[in-house]
Amino acid sequence: MILVLDFGGQYAQLIARRVREARVFSELVPYDTPLEEIRAKEPQGIILSGGPNSVYGEGSPRVDDGLWDLGVPMLGICYGMQLMALNLGGEVEAVQIREYGRSDLRIKEPGLLFSGTPDEQTAWTSHGDAVLAAPEGFTVTAETPSVPIIAFEDRDKTRFGVQFHAEVKHTEYGMEILKNFLFEACGAAPDWTPVNIITDAVERIREQIGDQRAICGLSGGVDSATAAMLVHRAIGDNLTCVFVDHGLLRHNEAEQVIEAFGENSDVPLVHVQAQRRFLDRLAGVTDPEAKRKIIGEEFIRTFEEEAGKIAEEATFLVQGTLYSDVIESGTRDAARIKSHHNVGGLPEVMDLDLVEPLRNLFKDEVRVVAAELGMPERMVWRQPFPGPGLAIRVIGDVTEERLEILRRADFVLQDEIRAAGLYRDLWQSFAVLPAIHSVGVMGDARTYAYPVVIRAVTSDDAMTADWARLPHDLLERISNRIINEVPGVNRVALDITSKPPGTIEWE
Ligand code: XMP
Repeated sequence: MILVLDFGGQYAQLIARRVREARVFSELVPYDTPLEEIRAKEPQGIILSGGPNSVYGEGSPRVDDGLWDLGVPMLGICYGMQLMALNLGGEVEAVQIREYGRSDLRIKEPGLLFSGTPDEQTAWTSHGDAVLAAPEGFTVTAETPSVPIIAFEDRDKTRFGVQFHAEVKHTEYGMEILKNFLFEACGAAPDWTPVNIITDAVERIREQIGDQRAICGLSGGVDSATAAMLVHRAIGDNLTCVFVDHGLLRHNEAEQVIEAFGENSDVPLVHVQAQRRFLDRLAGVTDPEAKRKIIGEEFIRTFEEEAGKIAEEATFLVQGTLYSDVIESGTRDAARIKSHHNVGGLPEVMDLDLVEPLRNLFKDEVRVVAAELGMPERMVWRQPFPGPGLAIRVIGDVTEERLEILRRADFVLQDEIRAAGLYRDLWQSFAVLPAIHSVGVMGDARTYAYPVVIRAVTSDDAMTADWARLPHDLLERISNRIINEVPGVNRVALDITSKPPGTIEWE
């Protein structure tokens, strides 16, 4: 395992990802993680990330001196390199490096880090202090036209530093450099593979749950489904899944979840038909926050009731929490803007221990695991869907009739997006039904009906998003089909708002 110490750099998460892409497990922790905790994790290597600070800045992040004596191979990137230089007796100049962006590296001596890479290569450098003199025992391995020490290493003590971002794609040989560190310096093996992740997870789950019982709330998304499959592998029928159908799902979605589970596993599944009670409670409610609150509460109540029978004996609750939900830098600002609801709200009200087998995985890693577990393609690649479902896409009053209009329009949209081969490229694509009417003409008759708004966005993490530039002919097909196939709709509009200032969902 490789530990990445996060000094607040925007690429810290990316370092952990790259290491994992090289099939070595890696974890991101705050730079001030106590030494004891670091030691307890028994890392094979430590990478110190970049950060926005100057090593001479007031209150700039520091590390315990003992870190350098752990006897673990270390790679400092940008801020991490400067800290290494300063702490080990080198000299760092508090002037900003003038170079920013693409720089030409000249390798003076390949050493271990640049081994197998050409003498001239480009790298992505960033603002920062400059190392003036390397600490004793270090060799300067690379320079750029304006920075004499852009990389150094002390091979005997397996300490390395680079004043550029090895983790970004713009750095031509970044992956080779990281691999040299992982495989040659740390002696790590590339054995973090989907099959191993599964075996590992199953073993851990077995250890945690033993012969006790667990329950899992299925949302229809890939995360909870994957978590459930893993736990089922580990404890078999001691797991019961509960799928609360709140009636706010997309066209055929409930059927697909049941089918995917029924066909691919024999996990005991309780399908709770709770459509009526959700709709009853939502009747006449138009305020977005009120809707979210009602759905969240009602969901917990339904889950509790239904799971109550099983939960009498169950001591564990399985959740599809992801790595991005766990790490500090991944906290979701969105949660402060809207009261988010997902199955994650449950443990506070239910006295159950948590089982979170995906806690260490990124979303794309979960998808690989899901595919390896034999989940259907539709489930593996499903776009994120909010807990409150279509209720926050039907603006205003949520009625069965309006939900059905939205479902049909959304179905056409998904159908065309998939046919155009764009489904996986989009973070989300969906239809919204505003609470207004407009005048149109169909045949020779006047119409007065709903517009439907198309929302399609690209994003990496939902924190920011851009509206997708869908091809005009695709938009035309979507528009024609929605108006022709969905009664009650006579107009189609396109949302061209990015996030910020918009949010992805309309409510
Ligand atoms: P916004 O609309 O805040 O959404 O830009 C960001 C992302 O979160 C999803 N979303 C939710 N997910 N429960 C969820 O599990 C919720 O209550 C919820 N509200 C929004 C949204 O679809 C987008 O991917």
